[in-house]
Amino acid sequence: MNNREISQPIFDRALNVLAQGVSSNFRYWGPKETPIIAKGKGGHVWDADGNKFVDYRLGWGPINIGHGDDRVNNAVSEAIQNGTTFAATTELEVEVAEKIVNMVPSMEMLRFTNTGTEATMHALRVARGYTGKEKFIKFEGQYHGAHDYVLFSTASSPISGMGPRKTPIPAQNGIGIPDKIREYVIMLPFNDFDAVEKVVKETHGEIAAMMIEPCLGNIAGLEPIAGYLAHLRKLCDEYEMVMIFDEVKTGFRLSNGGARETYNVIPDISTYAKSLGNGYPVAAFGGKKDVMSVIGSGKVTHAGTFGANSCSMAAAKAVLDILDETPVLENLTKRGARLKAGLDKVLTEADIPHQMSGHPTMQGFLLTEMPIQDVRGLVHHDAEMYGSIIEHMYKNGVWAEDDAREPWFLCEAHTDEIIDETLNKFEDAVKVVRG
Ligand SMILES: Cc1ncc(COP(=O)(O)O)c(C=O)c1O
Repeated sequence: MNNREISQPIFDRALNVLAQGVSSNFRYWGPKETPIIAKGKGGHVWDADGNKFVDYRLGWGPINIGHGDDRVNNAVSEAIQNGTTFAATTELEVEVAEKIVNMVPSMEMLRFTNTGTEATMHALRVARGYTGKEKFIKFEGQYHGAHDYVLFSTASSPISGMGPRKTPIPAQNGIGIPDKIREYVIMLPFNDFDAVEKVVKETHGEIAAMMIEPCLGNIAGLEPIAGYLAHLRKLCDEYEMVMIFDEVKTGFRLSNGGARETYNVIPDISTYAKSLGNGYPVAAFGGKKDVMSVIGSGKVTHAGTFGANSCSMAAAKAVLDILDETPVLENLTKRGARLKAGLDKVLTEADIPHQMSGHPTMQGFLLTEMPIQDVRGLVHHDAEMYGSIIEHMYKNGVWAEDDAREPWFLCEAHTDEIIDETLNKFEDAVKVVRG
């Protein structure tokens, strides 16, 4: 355990005024363990006690350039001098939309919101408005945010509640979600070509959309089997369903064009959030003009007081300019590949059965003897050993999520030296855990 002389009293205060002492369920680690962060710069964060960590959590993905990047901060400081929220369109907002349309393949039109949750919620409404149908296909283990329609069979749902693989049951995440909503969700295992084809052929008349995380950003970044996304595209075309890519984790991270570009499949709508702002809260959803044109008065509602506020737009503009003008994501991919190869080597030399997973910019590994391609496969993963390795690294100043479902994220500020330091500390941690 790192020292907590300053962190613990702050967390004790938090417990009095914040439910469970946090502002997201996933941030709670326990009454004596929950971290309190004081600052972040580049690829590092410091807790309130001054303990310094190489950060691979990166706020669960938004940081693609680096914490507290001066270029992004300066752009924001300059913009906010002129006010932030006007209940009206700004030129900056138009510029950011134009930039995204230019960077993302086949992106024609979009709208801005503030969080990934809002983006997927609106994308689903657009799909329903466009098709006049109400049900949608969701894949097990995928997370699309915290609104009621998508909080079923996510990576945090107990696998035991998901029903048989051939006839999955949408398992509610916690209480408070109306039971009736379950009727709108058709749950399927990811990476299973036949399962989705069978269900689509039987029930396409009722299905508005397929909501898809193109790679499993909430299960160690597991990638689609070759041809799987193209298979889904074909089914959506043939049976007139709106294909939604949830690119909240992959957008402006896998490549400038996101999963559309990396996997070469174009959905009808995509959702973006995290890496669009390098830590500032900004999100968007968009795609084909034909589909997005259902938004408007008397048609599909999209609204939000803070949508496209100048703080978020200035951050997004700065991030997009940096990605456009410098090979940030190419470098991340190269360094991430080196990290992945290094972690793989250490695990192989220690004779620990494992599977490397994910795109180099948001990668992971699972400790398993069986190949894993979806959430159900996690029963084969040794979560305890994984947690112990990560705990040792945390004590030694390297911070990755102690749960393998959350990928290791890379940012531009993770230099080759930082990767080397990580690999040395990983080797030490594996040695300790192996005894
Ligand atoms: C793929 C995906 N979609 C949507 C969301 C929700 O985004 P937010 O937390 O900004 O609401 C997340 C959050 O982690 C996510 O990983």
